[in-house]
Amino acid sequence: MNMYKIAVIPGDGTGPEVTAEAVKVLKAAANKFKFKADLTHFDFGGERYKRTGETLPDSAVEELRKFDAILLGAIGHPDVAPGILEKGILLKLRFGLDQYINLRPVRLYPGVETPLKNKGPDDIDFVVVRENTGDMYTGTGGFTMKGTPNEVAVQSAVYTRFQVDRCLKYAFEYTRKYGKKSRGKSDKNTLALCGKTNVLTYIYDLWERAFHEMGEKDYPDIKREYYHVDATCMWMVKNPEWFDVIVTGNMFGDIITDLGAMIQGGMGIAAGGNINPEGVSMFEPIGGSAPKYTGKGVINPLAAICAVQMMLAELGEQKAADAVEKAVMFVTANKVKSLQAGKMGFSTSQVGDLVATKFAE
Ligand code: IPM
Ligand code: MN
Repeated sequence: MNMYKIAVIPGDGTGPEVTAEAVKVLKAAANKFKFKADLTHFDFGGERYKRTGETLPDSAVEELRKFDAILLGAIGHPDVAPGILEKGILLKLRFGLDQYINLRPVRLYPGVETPLKNKGPDDIDFVVVRENTGDMYTGTGGFTMKGTPNEVAVQSAVYTRFQVDRCLKYAFEYTRKYGKKSRGKSDKNTLALCGKTNVLTYIYDLWERAFHEMGEKDYPDIKREYYHVDATCMWMVKNPEWFDVIVTGNMFGDIITDLGAMIQGGMGIAAGGNINPEGVSMFEPIGGSAPKYTGKGVINPLAAICAVQMMLAELGEQKAADAVEKAVMFVTANKVKSLQAGKMGFSTSQVGDLVATKFAE
């Protein structure tokens, strides 16, 4: 029997509530598909920071390296200044564990409402592969003459060929395996590069050259497309069915995946994986800690449950992953009235029960 060591970081706000439901589903999956999940909880987050002044000690990164995967609830606390927890915990883990891919499926499940008129599950069905270790997130920067009228602020975007190549390789491989042709939904698999070659003439020039070189040499079976980031946003709204897999840098990826989350029904359903294909990966609902709903039992746990689905796929438990996704689709199609907090027609833990009992049937 396969045994997985899973680190669980429930985090702040509604993080612990949605994580509890995700863990419920994970346990039910383990039971049904005959693997073992050995869970260890960690209390990193805003409360711990307020108590101890510590975000994430270096030793914790080393400790987490020994796990098979990490399940994260949410990081972000209303009493802590922006940036401290994000940089001190979330980004520290992404960079420390070299989780160089941020994988974000944008899939509209049946019964889920999208703000896009006349678009349905067949139209909104693509994946964003966001580079997760470079760009403005790790470029250097600083102030001079801070607080004076002559103040200067600099924040640079940095990419190395190595970072770009390893991300592109992941994206091409992913497209070959899970593109629309491979899923029987098109006669071709397509990878689109999202950039800004008309203005960011250094960074996205590198991306574009590397993209076509690699595609031509190693992935001639995959159709290559290019879109500027602003046009990407436009087409994601107007013609989302054009997209199959999109690969992009960290900053553009951050922005377009929030747009993606909205067209797939909102933060109640959107999950992401911070993936190190050679190391330990971390899975999270991307919605944040939603502090105003804390403790009310009204927050939607489906995004956290979808994070479990992604985690199972990455661990190699594909059947279990598929079963979780099917159960989520059953619940969106037949049970919850809305994905919005307080409007589901069920409590947070009831929604967890609906998923867990459905696929344990
Ligand atoms: C995300 C988030 C993070 C990011 C923040 C919280 C640092 O917005 O996962 O998309 O910018 O990457
Ligand atoms: Mn974001």
